[in-house]
Amino acid sequence: MNMIARISDSERYARCVQTSKRVRWDIEEDIIRGRRFDTTHKFLPDGLSLAGEFTTLSAGEKRFVSQIQGRTYANIFGLVERFINAKVLELSHDHWFGDQVALEALVRFSDEELKHQALFRRIDTMVGEVLPDGYRFDVDPNSVAHAVLGKSTWAVLALTLDIELFTQLHYRESIDPDAALSDLFKDVFLYHWKEESQHAILDELEWVRHDAGLTTDERDSAVNEFIELVAAVDGILNAQAKADAGYFTATCGRAVGEAEARAIEVAFLKAYRWQYIHSGARHPHFGKVLSSLITDDQGRRIQAALATLQ
Ligand SMILES: [Fe+2]
Ligand SMILES: [Fe+2]
Repeated sequence: MNMIARISDSERYARCVQTSKRVRWDIEEDIIRGRRFDTTHKFLPDGLSLAGEFTTLSAGEKRFVSQIQGRTYANIFGLVERFINAKVLELSHDHWFGDQVALEALVRFSDEELKHQALFRRIDTMVGEVLPDGYRFDVDPNSVAHAVLGKSTWAVLALTLDIELFTQLHYRESIDPDAALSDLFKDVFLYHWKEESQHAILDELEWVRHDAGLTTDERDSAVNEFIELVAAVDGILNAQAKADAGYFTATCGRAVGEAEARAIEVAFLKAYRWQYIHSGARHPHFGKVLSSLITDDQGRRIQAALATLQ
């Protein structure tokens, strides 16, 4: 690496530290501010909940779907941030006796993800206070983190950059522009986005740095592991789509026949795959960074795997 590139990377870590200090927020004082969720408003916007796919539902029922999906959205972030934080703490080891600004950037990243997990637990509880009983999110963040961290660092960082970029895309393109959303729900993701912007920069710096130390064979098996991680995410989404569709059918206040119940479950899964797999896979910057690290053949393997999740 030449001197200009090295200076530039160290500046990027420094800018992340500066921005992290400037935007830092508090869960209660800045976000919650004594508010409660109002069920007369949508939580997730139509562009993420894919409201149009729920063709048999009334407008009020689609709003209920957006609230169920919004609760799951918060829970999925709480889930993935457990393994993201553990990986960031592990990577910080590489900087212990090196660039202290890079170390500070990762320590702040970790601190923010701990706070975000507390925020998402708070949101789950608060949504539970205004929606009917019976919602389930039975995925254990620690078991998922153990399974994910069993894969190579390259694969985990690929998944992490993907997630942290699509979080921002969702906020900018869907959540922020929708005037019909719950103000509180919108604020949760506004404040989350402010800190996530630095995380995606750090993920990329760490991924490229780590990639430079891999052999061709190591990278090739890491590509397979990334595909396995995406398949594991899909397994979680299948289970949660089933749980959320079942919760909707049990609590929507009318009888839902078997065929309609099945269609609702299919629509939930399509929305979840869009939110957590395809919107990230199509993110231009993620595609750019990924393709700069892999061969065309490896890129085709990833695309072929994604094509099976439609
Ligand atoms: Fe976060
Ligand atoms: Fe993050």
